[in-house]
Amino acid sequence: MDGPAAAGKTTTCLALARTFGLRYLESGRTYRIIAFEALQREIPVDDAREITWLCDRLILESRSAGLLTSERYASDKLRETPVNVAVSAVAKIADVRRRVTSLIRLWAESQTQCVIEGRDIGTTIFPAALVKFYLTASPEVRAMRRVRQERAGTYENVLKDVIRRDDADMNRTVSPLVAAEDAIRIDTTNLTIEQVMSRMSTACRDRGLEVIRS
Ligand code: DC
Repeated sequence: MDGPAAAGKTTTCLALARTFGLRYLESGRTYRIIAFEALQREIPVDDAREITWLCDRLILESRSAGLLTSERYASDKLRETPVNVAVSAVAKIADVRRRVTSLIRLWAESQTQCVIEGRDIGTTIFPAALVKFYLTASPEVRAMRRVRQERAGTYENVLKDVIRRDDADMNRTVSPLVAAEDAIRIDTTNLTIEQVMSRMSTACRDRGLEVIRS
């Protein structure tokens, strides 16, 4: 599942995970952990060499793919404004992306079925994924949803951040955010979560995933 910030990826991934019995991975969290640690240690986030070293140290400390699912970091700490700002710089470092890509592939190898959200999952990390979704919505609607759901600040500030992150994600040199050619694109601007889930579930069932009955 790829798409820009606040397009509804987490909500729909969690719902798909529940419906089809999939393990779920939020890949952006890893970039956020690296950005958070860089800020804590006062390492400039645009220093590619230092950030790559930090990334290596964190991977070593958390025994490889453990970094992806580390519970040492509270989600609200990773979503604070300084991290939101720093993470775009971290995510454009090619050596960091290579390492995170390897970790995600390693993690997925040990899963039977999983759903992963990010920006380059269907294009770079798993070009042969069984089902790919590219979720989007207008910046205004994404900002409004984030303000309502997370009380994440004023609408104007959140909208500015959404637009800034779209620009950073879509225009970086390495693995920019773009829909995979074979991704199912869903523009959720005028859709309810139920409508989105219905399209997604149909696509998953069509490709052979079975609904888990609890
Ligand atoms: O999904 P998110 O907003 O938590 O992601 C945080 C940042 O990490 C965002 O700036 C985009 C980047 N990211 C990425 O470049 N590639 C991914 N697979 C996941 C996230």
